[in-house]
Amino acid sequence: MRHLLLLNSYFLRYPKHLIGGVIFVVASVVFQTYPAIFIREAFGSVEVAIENGVTNELNQNLLKYGLLILLFSALRGLFTFLMRQTLIVMSRHIEYDLKNDLYAQYQRLDAAFYRKNNTGDLMNRISEDVSRVRMYLGPAVMYSINTFFATVLTLVFMFRVDVALSFWVLAPMPLLVWAIYRVSDRINKASHAVQEQQSAMSTFAQETFSGIRVLKAFAAEKAQSSRYKSASEKSYQVNAELFEINALFQPLMLLLVGLSTLLAVWIGGLGVVEGKWSSGVIAEFIYYVNLLTWPIASIGWVMSLIQRAEASMERIHQFLQAEPVVNGPANGYKPEHIRGEWTFESVSFVYPDSGIEALHDFNLRVEPGELVVLTGKTGSGKSTLVQLMVRSMDPTSGRILLDGVDLREWDLEYLRKQVAFVPQDAFLFSDTVAENLRFGNTSELSDLELVQAAQAASVHDDVLGFEKGYETVVGERGVALSGGQKQRLSIARAFLKKAPVLVLDDSLSAVDPKTESYIVEMLPKSVVGRTAFVVAQRLSVAPFASKIVVLEEGKLIEIGNHKELLENQGFYASLVELQSRRTRADAGEDHQTKNHGPFTENLR
Ligand SMILES: Nc1ncnc2c1ncn2[C@@H]1O[C@H](COP(=O)(O)OP(=O)(O)O)[C@@H](O)[C@H]1O
Ligand SMILES: [Mg+2]
Repeated sequence: MRHLLLLNSYFLRYPKHLIGGVIFVVASVVFQTYPAIFIREAFGSVEVAIENGVTNELNQNLLKYGLLILLFSALRGLFTFLMRQTLIVMSRHIEYDLKNDLYAQYQRLDAAFYRKNNTGDLMNRISEDVSRVRMYLGPAVMYSINTFFATVLTLVFMFRVDVALSFWVLAPMPLLVWAIYRVSDRINKASHAVQEQQSAMSTFAQETFSGIRVLKAFAAEKAQSSRYKSASEKSYQVNAELFEINALFQPLMLLLVGLSTLLAVWIGGLGVVEGKWSSGVIAEFIYYVNLLTWPIASIGWVMSLIQRAEASMERIHQFLQAEPVVNGPANGYKPEHIRGEWTFESVSFVYPDSGIEALHDFNLRVEPGELVVLTGKTGSGKSTLVQLMVRSMDPTSGRILLDGVDLREWDLEYLRKQVAFVPQDAFLFSDTVAENLRFGNTSELSDLELVQAAQAASVHDDVLGFEKGYETVVGERGVALSGGQKQRLSIARAFLKKAPVLVLDDSLSAVDPKTESYIVEMLPKSVVGRTAFVVAQRLSVAPFASKIVVLEEGKLIEIGNHKELLENQGFYASLVELQSRRTRADAGEDHQTKNHGPFTENLR
């Protein structure tokens, strides 16, 4: 239970619920146990009446005990209700806290963590693991408290009547606990298998839906259907197994309870015959057996709940302990004003998971307000370089400085706010166009500003073409956008961030050449006063750049402006030569895929 103990600090946040819950449990147990005495008394009155004949007193007594039992049942019900209202509600509060802590940790962890862990696993932490822990926080804790008090009080009541009889009646109980524990364990294992099969099937179905076009194109429906069929058969089997065990569970309980009742009647009856006690004692003990059944049966169930919660809590704890590789310093650098001067000093970067050296001894100095174009084949390290600028990861060796200060000395959140970054794979949320554009902006943005940014990114007309304009929902739950539209909306979003540094990572790759040249011609105006880094394969933007940097296999191989590099007659010059030879007849629609023709393949 080492890991579950970590939850104690959460319990302490709700002292009222915890103390109130215990009080209500005790109250409900008292009101539940006490009627045993009324039953014995009622039987006693009947015994007297058998000897002396029925009198008015008997009727009054029976009515009195009947009403008392009714009243106590009602009170017990009330306190049981209050017990659930405090303890189960407390568990829901803690579940909420725990989920928030997990979510905050998801946000805190960095790219290195997300490269290593898959989405399904991460989702499980916050959904399945938390709900198992909640079963401990709520039901397991509640039934434990209840079992404890109910057992203690019932035993006290029983022993007060007769110790030997109590032992006889209790004899089958340990067997009951053991049997139920074994069965619960099997039930848990089987229901785990059921859940796993369920989630495997829904993943399978989901993949079928997302890949339905490929599936149909390959005429693979039949094969897919038969795979689904065998998955359903497996699901049927595990469910059948679960039902089998469940079917075993109840008769087993009834058998052992019956055994205790039998002993109460038998041993108790012998005592009555000997004249040791009144016949009411038999009824009283049968009542005790019934009182003990559920608490004792729940021990096995609660133990298996606790075991599962412990395993889940261990996973949650591990995750909460994970530290991001990239961390901001406690009192980071946070200047009022940023100039936007970048210095790269022999920066090298090796991906730890693959061992690939994506950058090697890279040196560059960029003055405030410059427009820098980074180009080179696919895999030359361009994306790696720009990701280092927002500290998605840190250089393996060397350092990067902004305004003369090492990035690692900057306040991390503040640094990232200064850089409007459009990653290579543009991402939009399932929300309206307007909300997507506003995303990440703390300041209020007027509609006019949204329109201006959309115009600068040449996506305004596209948006007006949508049914609800800027209020159209895009993404998974809305209008499907072309790759180029996504890229241009992402660019508009970056423009709106009004950050002193702008970074576009291959953000025009799916935009058609005509629109591209429009954006490119607007770009110097859009980024005026900011330092901008534009990663590009196509070089339409290069003539506007103050510096063009050509990368190859992580090394800087050429640097200069358009004119200088043309005179240089190197890699860049041959690139431009190739691109200008290309006929750009295919202006118009956006390209869903990167359609550069054969020669640009050489650049990639
Ligand atoms: N997440 C990653 N893990 C391991 N290696 C990577 C990762 N991302 C990129 N690389 C490798 O680093 C090199 C540079 O990649 P990248 O910076 O994406 O190049 P570019 O953006 O110029 O196409 C490539 O060899 C690529 O395979
Ligand atoms: Mg890239």
